[in-house]
Amino acid sequence: MERVTEIQHPLVKHHLTRLRNKDISPPSFRSLIGRLAFLLTYEATKDLALEPLDVETPLATAHGQQLSQRVGIVPILRAGLGMVDPILSLVPDAEVWHLGFYRDEETHEPVEYYKKLPDASPVDTALIVDPMLATGGSACAAIRAVQDWGVKDLRLLGIIAAPEGIDAVTQAFPEIRIFVCGIDDCLNHNAYIVPGLGDAGDRIFNTVETHNP
Ligand code: PRP
Ligand code: URA
Repeated sequence: MERVTEIQHPLVKHHLTRLRNKDISPPSFRSLIGRLAFLLTYEATKDLALEPLDVETPLATAHGQQLSQRVGIVPILRAGLGMVDPILSLVPDAEVWHLGFYRDEETHEPVEYYKKLPDASPVDTALIVDPMLATGGSACAAIRAVQDWGVKDLRLLGIIAAPEGIDAVTQAFPEIRIFVCGIDDCLNHNAYIVPGLGDAGDRIFNTVETHNP
């Protein structure tokens, strides 16, 4: 099984290219993030477990199937929030558990500011979502938190990753599966992804003044 999947679908390439454009408006940026999260989820959920379910159609009994597991969506605040609604549109019964990390601008280390995972009853499958995997610090901290909760099947969904971030996550957690729309060249001196798209949280929430990639 592939541990790292860079989605090759033409629609992903098309929308990702538009997302990178520095001149698009926050509403366009949000809507492209949503479209890409939708396509990413389709790929990342291909092997979810099913159980049989019979339903009555107007004509007869249809022997169908339904998801047999609890799915949790774990957005890393803030930017991960932009991916939640499209995932819920595909998995409406999923639980949403938030984790808050921001990157310290000097050290680039993640600083935790919100974590309210329950002590017990972990979901069967957790989708940790964050558009950007840069140094991998935030993703590793989120994975640790979700593993401490007891989740065994954990997948990381992102829009753009740097090779450095992929290496950090796969070295620390060789069993984690990563799904991304694109793997870029490198990080710059501020640990921003190049070519990337700038600061995803700022572009989603229209707060572009606050950070300088
Ligand atoms: C961004 C991004 C990730 C993190 C990635 O969040 O959304 O969470 O940086 O960087 P890393 O891989 O080096 O940890 P940021 O800290 O800018 O917070 P925000 O989402 O609130 O803008
Ligand atoms: N966070 C972002 O939003 N963008 C990057 O390129 C790196 C971290």
